[in-house]
Amino acid sequence: MAAATQPHVMVLPFPAQGHVIPLMELSHRLVEKGFKIDFVNTEFNHDHIFKVLADKGAIPGGLHMLSIPDGLGPADDHTDIGKLVQVLPAAMFSLLEKMIRSKKIKWVIADVSMSWALELANTVGVRIVLFSTYSAAVFALRMNLPKLIEDGVLDETGDVKRHEMVQLMPPIDATEVPWVNLGSTQERRRFNIQNVLKTNQLMALAEMIICNTFREMEFEALARLSNALPVGPLVAPASGPKGNFLPEDLTCLTWLDTQAPGSVIYVAFGSSTIFDVSQFHELANGLALSGQPFLWVVRPNFTNGIQEDWFKAYNDIVEGKGLIVSWVPQQRVLSHPSIACFMSHCGWNSTIEGVLHGVPFLCWPYFSDQFCNQSYLCNVWKTGMKLCQDKRGVVTRKEIKNKVAQLLGDKDIKERAVRLKAAACESIQEGGSSHQNLLKLVNLLREQ
Ligand code: UDX
Repeated sequence: MAAATQPHVMVLPFPAQGHVIPLMELSHRLVEKGFKIDFVNTEFNHDHIFKVLADKGAIPGGLHMLSIPDGLGPADDHTDIGKLVQVLPAAMFSLLEKMIRSKKIKWVIADVSMSWALELANTVGVRIVLFSTYSAAVFALRMNLPKLIEDGVLDETGDVKRHEMVQLMPPIDATEVPWVNLGSTQERRRFNIQNVLKTNQLMALAEMIICNTFREMEFEALARLSNALPVGPLVAPASGPKGNFLPEDLTCLTWLDTQAPGSVIYVAFGSSTIFDVSQFHELANGLALSGQPFLWVVRPNFTNGIQEDWFKAYNDIVEGKGLIVSWVPQQRVLSHPSIACFMSHCGWNSTIEGVLHGVPFLCWPYFSDQFCNQSYLCNVWKTGMKLCQDKRGVVTRKEIKNKVAQLLGDKDIKERAVRLKAAACESIQEGGSSHQNLLKLVNLLREQ
């Protein structure tokens, strides 16, 4: 395609791993359709992505990796989500305006967690598609937040005022509303709630809401959204940047090849979940007790205070039955025939990736939308089981052992997961609902 006619789109993820990955997946799809993509990371994440990118020459021609500062100082923690939410708009807005003007960009695909960017439609006249990194249900819940406050279920600081089940799709307890359990301090929680209420008012500026989901799975939630287009499940690119912040350990794939079909527990808690030392030990002992082989992702910042010696001793105990690595190619792992189930924090990407590969879940949510995703898995699709805490708030080794056995012995759960996988695969095949929606998006973005 001649450069002059090549449709050009800016993609703007929130600077966190679970946001960069799906927007990168969507970008690869658009590049395949002939688009030129300017993918704008923060400088901090941009550097990380390039550091871990195994084949730096594999970036497809249409994909341009750009970066701008995030507004934090050199001594600040650039992974502090709460802080980033506060500083990004002021740091980025005018830089984005300049970039859009100088490159004559007509379209931006902005992450829903960057909804403040919708103002760019007013200031530089760019057209904006919003991308939801969470489920359509959570997007609908977000739009319903003023009503929950009006009804007295929550107040404007995120305090729960009436303990009840929020009967949207899927049902969750009021304390599990994502913006209520997000934020390490009262002040941050108040900021998050206020931020959602404020940016909700900009939603009319979005020409379309793209969701990494599919119609057959979230029919009810999607019906609540007038302008939503489900294009998922998005699939990881075979080559080029996936947006990983950590290098993938590919040895896990050869290890999986040596395991029996349907035997391995895959254990991974996304990019930001943190376990305290005692919970970490309980999990380690629970996995050992389960008697099943397991592949466990332990990121460098997953827990504090575990020494190298501990890993050596633990490996002796599990006698090669368990493999611990710091980051894996998750979609390839989930598609491996040896995988029996996914012990997960239920981040939306992990949830939809597990659905795409027909894997039953052991649910262990940490924060934000993950409780809602757990409710989908356990109460609606019925393809998962919840790991329950004891009175001290600990998921014990016994609970882990029992639930692993229960899940692996449950044929109905596996059958439902396989059926959901079939529907997911159909939706992204030629003629499927998500495939058709992707073409609708492509046609819209071609209006340059
Ligand atoms: C968070 C929220 O949990 C999620 O619901 C929200 O929509 C985005 O931000 P995160 O905690 O990172 O995300 O979890 P998740 O949404 O599951 O995303 C993690 C991503 O990292 C997935 O795409 C997963 O495939 C990938 N991953 C994880 C790897 O590639 N390798 C690993 O070893 C672990």
